[in-house]
Amino acid sequence: MELEVLNKYEKGQICVLADKKLIRHPEWLASTKLHDYPVMWIEVSESGKSLETVSKIWDFLFEHGITRRGLLICIGGGILTDLGGFAAATYKRGIDYINIPTTLLAMIDASTGGKTGINYRGLKNSIGTFAPPVAVPIDPSWLSTLPAEQFLSGFGEMLKTGLLDEQLWSQLLQYDLETMPTKGLNELIEQCLAIKARIVQEDPQETGTRKVLNLGHTFGHAIEEISFQQTAIHHGYAVVYGLIAELYLSVVKLGCNKEPLQQLTQIMLHDYGKPQCKCSDVQTLVKLMQQDKKNEHAGQINCTLLQAVGKPVINQEITEQEAVEAWEYLFSL
Ligand SMILES: NC(=O)c1ccc[n+]([C@@H]2O[C@H](COP(=O)([O-])OP(=O)(O)OC[C@H]3O[C@@H](n4cnc5c(N)ncnc54)[C@H](O)[C@@H]3O)[C@@H](O)[C@H]2O)c1
Ligand SMILES: [Zn+2]
Repeated sequence: MELEVLNKYEKGQICVLADKKLIRHPEWLASTKLHDYPVMWIEVSESGKSLETVSKIWDFLFEHGITRRGLLICIGGGILTDLGGFAAATYKRGIDYINIPTTLLAMIDASTGGKTGINYRGLKNSIGTFAPPVAVPIDPSWLSTLPAEQFLSGFGEMLKTGLLDEQLWSQLLQYDLETMPTKGLNELIEQCLAIKARIVQEDPQETGTRKVLNLGHTFGHAIEEISFQQTAIHHGYAVVYGLIAELYLSVVKLGCNKEPLQQLTQIMLHDYGKPQCKCSDVQTLVKLMQQDKKNEHAGQINCTLLQAVGKPVINQEITEQEAVEAWEYLFSL
């Protein structure tokens, strides 16, 4: 993959931020000539998605004399692209950055759409900016070294996108998660990206319609946060659990057909396993949802629900009782 966009920048004005695990992909760094630039390798973790790491990235950029016309190339999964994007967006009031996503989740979601951020006060992505990257070159061959559960995590986010589009949903239901064939995967990635790009273009700052992309995330973030404080679970797994709770409410509140809920439940039980939270966590989960940054009024729970596959409805208010019921449904499966 040649990165033509690099020609726009002076050679001494380009720096690379890369996930340490990618040291196993030296051929790629060599083929793009990225080894010509200073590289900062980062060991990624949710606890390291912090202001402290951002400050180390700022130091790296200062030490290499990067000016406002500089470029940061971020190579890694969603943690690295969120961190790198945030560091770039705030360094000298913002420099350009490129995301080269290396996980399925980052390819179809985290690396595009312009959301950057870090975790703060134990709350996921609670500090951040909207700042789109100047390019996002996608190369699915990175996925050859990705562990299966990371693939499934990315697939969880694909399932969310599929629920927003009837055609993609039926294609995803045919994809064989058992063998994870590369055949058909590129097309699925392209479709997810096209759907997300269309939605983001309409509402880049998430004042309205972009909220459809939060499907599964009101409940998903709560389960992710509670696990963040115990044993962390992957983002896409949390999204799958959140989707089940929200599809349950879509059936109860909006009369959505039960079929997608049943189809997703089957996928969850077969490939993801049940959530590890205990039912006694329900009150804590509901409290976390009441603090969610997506709520417009403190204490009120706001959700995207579905009337049908491909027909999302934003700004659905959920009562505390409804939230409890949806969690209990998920934990009863
Ligand atoms: N900005 C957004 O719009 C957005 C959207 C969704 C998720 N996110 C964020 O993305 C993060 C999750 O992203 P993720 O799932 O990519 O996690 P991640 O960045 O932690 O990557 C997952 C794991 O895979 C490793 N890895 C990366 N590429 C690899 C490769 N090619 N081969 C082998 N191992 C590899 C990483 O070192 C890590 O251990 C969360 O912090 C979430 O909040 C952001
Ligand atoms: Zn997500």
